[in-house]
Amino acid sequence: APLLAFWAVLGYLLGSIPFGMVLARVMGLGNLREIGSGNIGATNVLRTGNKTAAALTLLLDGGKGAVAVLLARAFGGEDTAQIAGLMAMLGHCYPIWLRFKGGKGVATFLGIVLALAWPVGVGCCLAWLAGAATSRISSMGALFAAAASSPLMVFTGHAEGLILGIVLTLLVFWRHRANIARLRAGTEPKIGGKS
Ligand code: G3P
Repeated sequence: APLLAFWAVLGYLLGSIPFGMVLARVMGLGNLREIGSGNIGATNVLRTGNKTAAALTLLLDGGKGAVAVLLARAFGGEDTAQIAGLMAMLGHCYPIWLRFKGGKGVATFLGIVLALAWPVGVGCCLAWLAGAATSRISSMGALFAAAASSPLMVFTGHAEGLILGIVLTLLVFWRHRANIARLRAGTEPKIGGKS
């Protein structure tokens, strides 16, 4: 139990690093809260016009989720890895450093599932591409990817990840509730658009 708590805390702390916000500041792109959706993720970093910063945000936000899972698995096994992954997701969405107002967890979610069960992760990335390519809307890709994760857990033989998949899916949808309202209203901006 102490080991589990350790990896839970470490997962949370890793997840809570707001790479998008840090990169935007360090690279002189401004305050993400005052840009586009105000979100700290790669999609909103792209709205600054800097593709390199957006790509780095995607990689680092995804990477922190994957690293949390892989480290916890190496030291504590599969259950510990799941807890660390969930905690990394919570860290990204509710970081203590930003008064618990964090991101929407899409990149981190993808990193977590890639590390937990790579076929599921690849499937979720493809689902993101399918959702985003057909709509040109990032949040649509996010909802597709999240929705795909639980069925993919089952169909690729990773049913042990089903509960986590469901929890992560619910979290992604919950964090996108403003996006979902805009999608329904037809006002959600396209990728690379202004806001
Ligand atoms: O990764 C978050 C994305 O799905 C939506 O971002 O900035 O358009 O709300 P944003």
